[in-house]
Amino acid sequence: MNADLTDLTHAPDTEQARFLKSLAEKSDGGSLRGDYTHADADYVVRQDCAAYTPAQHALWRDLYARQAALLPGRACDAFIANLAQMEAADGIPDFARTSALLSAATGWTLVAVPGLVPDKTFFEHLAARRFPVTVWLREPHEFDYIVEPDVFHDFFGHVPLLFDPVFADHLQQYGKGGLKAMRLNGLTYLARLYWYTIEFGLIETAEGLRAYGAGLLSSGGEIEQCLRSAIPRRIAFNAGRVMRTLYKIDSYQESYFVIRSFEQLFADTAPDFTPLYARLQTQAALPANTLLDTEVDRGPA
Ligand SMILES: [Fe+2]
Repeated sequence: MNADLTDLTHAPDTEQARFLKSLAEKSDGGSLRGDYTHADADYVVRQDCAAYTPAQHALWRDLYARQAALLPGRACDAFIANLAQMEAADGIPDFARTSALLSAATGWTLVAVPGLVPDKTFFEHLAARRFPVTVWLREPHEFDYIVEPDVFHDFFGHVPLLFDPVFADHLQQYGKGGLKAMRLNGLTYLARLYWYTIEFGLIETAEGLRAYGAGLLSSGGEIEQCLRSAIPRRIAFNAGRVMRTLYKIDSYQESYFVIRSFEQLFADTAPDFTPLYARLQTQAALPANTLLDTEVDRGPA
């Protein structure tokens, strides 16, 4: 499934060709995965379920079993309950089947994509309640860690909470906000919000701190680190503060931000961010391990 992106980058100077060229450059010679040759204008492809091998289904089962065993006491209740009803433990799932369940529950659907897609395309999908899921699965040697999102991260990590009505509305709102941020030079800030919530967010529950971010819930190591380690900071969520904060892409996070509920996340990210973006553009970004004088480190769960 390794695509030779260099072939595609000789295409005419279309928006898609420019995106593929940027991927090829980022991936240092075309090692970034994903076959974009059959992608449509929205970067959607057909999920070829018959092409997955028995070894790939076996790898999925191992990934699923390892991760599912880590969820009790670490993942929020909604994630655990929704994952169970998806019945996706036995092999790489058929997106169409899950999409039908999801559509009935919250009006979202899944679309298959070759891998990373441009920001604008990603936001357009979310704004239309479509969640892009990468079609390819990691290799066995990447069992514990993978740089790019694969089908396990996208499906296992992200899809269960799309069954939650409030979270589902929030993600659509985020997509609409992303399209707006592109016009306001706010993408850097909105990307930090996504990172510290949708990917690495923690939530306070009656039973204690739990993970709801997909990057945590699909990780064999950070799902424990984020809750129990004394090293990272755990700070009450504040949208403006989060959008000012740098994040780590090559190690565990140094700070996590804690919401009280998905309703809070939805409400706190609903306002027009135009004045906030303007203010953030005048402020220096905060290092990932910052604790402000006004903040309290909540400590481990
Ligand atoms: Fe993700």
